[in-house]
Amino acid sequence: MSAESPKNVILLPQTNQLLSLYTIIRNKETQRSDFVFYSDRIIRLLVEEGLNQLPVEPKTVSTPTGEVFEGVKFLGKICGVSIIRAGESMEQGLRDCCRSVRLGKILIQRDEETALPKLYYEKLPEDIASRYVFLLDPMLATGGSAIMATEVLLSRGVKPERIFFLNLISNPEGISNYHKKFPDIKIVTGAVDRGLNESKHIVTGLGDFGDRYYCI
Ligand code: URA
Repeated sequence: MSAESPKNVILLPQTNQLLSLYTIIRNKETQRSDFVFYSDRIIRLLVEEGLNQLPVEPKTVSTPTGEVFEGVKFLGKICGVSIIRAGESMEQGLRDCCRSVRLGKILIQRDEETALPKLYYEKLPEDIASRYVFLLDPMLATGGSAIMATEVLLSRGVKPERIFFLNLISNPEGISNYHKKFPDIKIVTGAVDRGLNESKHIVTGLGDFGDRYYCI
């Protein structure tokens, strides 16, 4: 898909390696320990790709061979914000790449009276407006929760171009809903699936990510 990827959708390279990881986590026979292990490998790739999007400045170092290496270093600070509960599964992958990274959390649940997403809890780093933010939620289905979470980030002063929404599986409807509201926010995804079924689950999909990662 990468050649014709919509603007601001960054799809991980669809290598055989990545495909083999998705084959394991999509398989309904896969047991929880394998689901966690192989999801974590994909999460790590998503985080690395998110980091790849951040600006750098030149940095020159001397090597033990007496040579000079013209390299780069990252500019700015980052933080992660997970959408509870499934998004918390992506926190460790971020920590593995960014030691002592700050992490915020947002809880959004469906209001049983209105059937609309409702914000129940938010705890974000004080200085979040000065950071690059990785918004973490493994499944971009309708985009309702991600849209609400992003509104919270914007209300705290985070600029759209500093937000990166990382997910394992997305779909065209969710991407379009999200980008109608936030065209300048980059979505980093490992797979763009066919669509949503009548229960608003992603198809082809993998079922309920949070249940498979934490419970089943
Ligand atoms: N959340 C999930 O865990 N799975 C889906 O298919 C959609 C949303």
